[in-house]
Amino acid sequence: MSAAPIPRAFVVGHPIAHSRSPLIHGYWLSQHGIPGSYERLDVAPAAFADFLRALPDSGFRGGNVTIPHKEAAYALVDTLTSRAEKIGAVNTLVVEPDGRVRGDNTDAPGFCGHLDHSLGAGWPERAGGTAVVLGAGGAARAIVVGLAENGLRRILIANRTRARAETLAALAPGIGAALDWNDLPDALAGAGLLVNTTSLGMKGQPPLDLDLTPLPETAAVADIVYAPLETDLLAAARHRGLAAVDGLGMLLHQAVPGFEAWFGLRPAVTPGLRDRIVADLSG
Ligand code: ATR
Repeated sequence: MSAAPIPRAFVVGHPIAHSRSPLIHGYWLSQHGIPGSYERLDVAPAAFADFLRALPDSGFRGGNVTIPHKEAAYALVDTLTSRAEKIGAVNTLVVEPDGRVRGDNTDAPGFCGHLDHSLGAGWPERAGGTAVVLGAGGAARAIVVGLAENGLRRILIANRTRARAETLAALAPGIGAALDWNDLPDALAGAGLLVNTTSLGMKGQPPLDLDLTPLPETAAVADIVYAPLETDLLAAARHRGLAAVDGLGMLLHQAVPGFEAWFGLRPAVTPGLRDRIVADLSG
């Protein structure tokens, strides 16, 4: 009798060298003594459809999808979770036993799982039901869907390009609304949660210059930027005594559902894992 094949998963992107996902999944595989593998695959956009078509016979149980393939994966998979369908992008693929490829988007539960972990359950109520989201790109789409799923009653979206904020607000009907950047002070005064999803504050990008004074003192501030870990926005929030949530946790938490689907065990986001990634980011 031949031995069962070892479980294999991947992250596919172009380029792919920068991806931290192999470190995260490799950490969990060795922590749990699972004889599996998680591999980096560089696939150019022109080859992505063929890659997906060949996936059921490849021996992989699935994998993560990163830039620039998230929208193509959405269009090409056999089935979509309702979350991925709403967000319009796929970051996690699972090969089903019948060979069909399912597309999921774990950025939404990743972000909200991170808030549960950092702020404690009940954060949507403590936020008074109102969040302000800065930015309206792919990450913002996942976050708005996640916030709406978690019971936020009002999500105000400010973006440099207002039309994108309006499109995004329509994803959360009755809850989402677009906001002019100039109207942020008034919006912040009524917000329990502020989330930066723009690239402002990232290494090599301009800082996010926003006065946090209007935020209530019970508000929390989350940034999805994780390089640097302590952005100017988070430093300003801490300076005001507000809860500050960094972007690394979202990256770690979004990896949990994929690992569970491919390797059969729900892993934990531990301080040890976080330290491992922080060491890599600062190395
Ligand atoms: P992601 O998928 O990571 O969200 P994205 O779709 O490129 O990336 O979105 C980047 C976000 O950062 C957008 O909201 C973008 O604003 P626009 O929609 O107006 O492009 C925002 N952003 C990037 N650079 C910015 C800058 N210099 N000033 C203000 N907003 C910026």
